[in-house]
Amino acid sequence: MAIQKVGVVGCGLMGAGIAQISAQAGFATVVREVTAELLEKGLRGIDKNLGRLVEKGTITEAAKNEIRGRLHGTTSLEDLKDCEVVVEAIIEKLPAKRALFAELDAICPANTMFASNTSSLTITEIAASTNRPQRFVGLHFFNPVPVMKLVEVVRTIATDEAVYEEMVAFGAKLGKTPVRANDSGGFIVNRLLVPYLLDAIRALEEGAGSVVDIDNSMKLGCGYPMGPFTLLDFVGLDTTYYISQIMFDEFKEKRFASPPLLKRMVLAGWHGKKTGRGFYDYSDPANPKPMER
Ligand code: 3HC
Repeated sequence: MAIQKVGVVGCGLMGAGIAQISAQAGFATVVREVTAELLEKGLRGIDKNLGRLVEKGTITEAAKNEIRGRLHGTTSLEDLKDCEVVVEAIIEKLPAKRALFAELDAICPANTMFASNTSSLTITEIAASTNRPQRFVGLHFFNPVPVMKLVEVVRTIATDEAVYEEMVAFGAKLGKTPVRANDSGGFIVNRLLVPYLLDAIRALEEGAGSVVDIDNSMKLGCGYPMGPFTLLDFVGLDTTYYISQIMFDEFKEKRFASPPLLKRMVLAGWHGKKTGRGFYDYSDPANPKPMER
């Protein structure tokens, strides 16, 4: 089935990024948010990103207008009814995702392929809310979506092989390098990344070094683009805590268990960059101040 129109549900950080790269890749794209305000906010972010690409000379003003012309925002799920693929990037809560897909299942034709951008929930369980689990995959993108070159394409035991291959090819058409992953907790990236981030917090708790010294160690010693604490603040401490809980529940292994400090910081509302405070204090955004321990 030739993919021409792509639906994206959710125009937050991830959904907006997915909608942007879909329109950039030449697909007619319709992105749905629950309120007009949230939709406007997401579309403004996309406009800003595309504007930056024009400023840098990566794309022309005409190309920007064409991309923007392929992208439509809506608050109505019905507008996704003629999409060949629908990618979901809403809140990371299983009941919300299952309710959404049950609704989409009734709206979209039987051959529409569904994908979830979940980072930690079980694709099988989300797919089971529809009558088309064989046409359901995970498409896990990375933040910032327009920049990070990977997409994990996740298959369940129920995914049809031809649908899976189509979605792998779709990931490549979006300009990403697709990797094949099975529906196992955290897929590939978070299975390795989450224990690493949690270990950095344990190293801090145990006095191995300061926030800045641990960050610099991994950044300068190993060539990572961000140290673990900068990355934790970037991803969100609440998000990391939530993922670690799901993975611990799945594997019952200590490496996925959340360190007490992470839990305390989440309880205190220190969710990282987005709340202005995490392992760094962002009161002066140009000069983040590290937590002292
Ligand atoms: N949107 C679009 N473009 C962006 C962007 C954004 N939010 N942030 C940065 N960019 C672009 C910049 O415009 C710049 O483009 P250019 O090279 O064409 O000029 C390029 O990215 C590099 O940006 P900067 O020079 O401003 O800054 P850095 O060199 O520090 O790069 C970074 C920023 C790309 C975010 C880099 O620090 C990085 O790769 N960090 C690691 C990010 C990471 O690990 N992400 C995965 C998180 S895990 C995840 O998402 C999974 C989930 O399940 C938890």
